[in-house]
Amino acid sequence: MKDLDAGKAGTFRIGGNISVNRLGFGAMRLTGKGIWGDPADRAECLRALRCLPELGINFIDTADSYGPDVSEHLIREALHPYGDIVVATKAGLVRTGPEQWHPVGRPEYLRQQALMSLRFLGVSQIGLWQLHRIDPKVPRDEQFGAIKSLLDDGLIRHAGLSEVSVEEIEAAEKVFPVSTVQNRFNLIDRTSEAVLGHCESNGIGFIPWFPLASGDLAKPGSMLDSIAKRHNAVPSQIALAWVLKRSPVLLPIPGTSRARHLEENVGAVNIVLSDEEFFALDKEGRAAFQHA
Ligand SMILES: NC(=O)c1ccc[n+]([C@@H]2O[C@H](COP(=O)([O-])OP(=O)(O)OC[C@H]3O[C@@H](n4cnc5c(N)ncnc54)[C@H](OP(=O)(O)O)[C@@H]3O)[C@@H](O)[C@H]2O)c1
Repeated sequence: MKDLDAGKAGTFRIGGNISVNRLGFGAMRLTGKGIWGDPADRAECLRALRCLPELGINFIDTADSYGPDVSEHLIREALHPYGDIVVATKAGLVRTGPEQWHPVGRPEYLRQQALMSLRFLGVSQIGLWQLHRIDPKVPRDEQFGAIKSLLDDGLIRHAGLSEVSVEEIEAAEKVFPVSTVQNRFNLIDRTSEAVLGHCESNGIGFIPWFPLASGDLAKPGSMLDSIAKRHNAVPSQIALAWVLKRSPVLLPIPGTSRARHLEENVGAVNIVLSDEEFFALDKEGRAAFQHA
């Protein structure tokens, strides 16, 4: 087995039948500032994407709104026809400028965006499509109904939700099978512990976005330093190793626009935290969360 191989993190079966390695790649950072427009270093982004297969990463998370469209176009340019890589995408947020995101969940809009993603990614079916946000202005069952139609028509194989509560997952489950949930979660952000518990009980994949707290957990001087030194590792690797050990349904998608950081992140799969280290980090992370 290669030294850097995301497969060492084990696998998760999305919807029970698409097996992906448990360390994925978040493609939001392949854009300009404020997740808007083209990235500053397009060639480096393409290089990072083209490294994914050799690093064993076969799960990419993107969205129509990243750029918008920039991330999906780059993924296609670098990796089409994808081989065994699953490119999961999302819709339900519109952009009015850098850093601006607005939920739009009208069924006809969600369907249009799924059709656009199919076109931009150059595929006949999207393996996993996620509702980026439930739009509070639109009855949620209408949004769930739109997702059911996408599944029924075979445009998407599996569907998921993002930033949802247990109650919302249960409401959606009455309309379509929820295969994944994508909520913010990391060592120092435990808001979604109950959702994680629900996912574990129901075989739902939990895709924790922000696994590095936007790079904060990658900085030297954090609580991860001493354990990192012990493992001859960097703090970001310890943050990811903790997420991977926390639950077998967690499928982290650290985001980066640099091949070097990508390799570093995959290195996390080689770190085996002892139970003692895991619980010490858990305790410290929980305390940091409570004081935040
Ligand atoms: N569902 C949602 O609402 C939602 C929201 C946000 C994000 N997401 C998804 O989740 C993915 C991950 O979230 P995220 O990108 O916000 O947060 P993240 O993965 O926690 O952090 C990404 C940041 O950390 C830096 N970084 C990555 N690896 C590093 C390393 N080894 N050393 C130092 N810095 C490193 C990156 O900068 P460099 O580019 O310089 O490496 C980037 O600024 C996104 O790509 C996206 O697919 C989903």
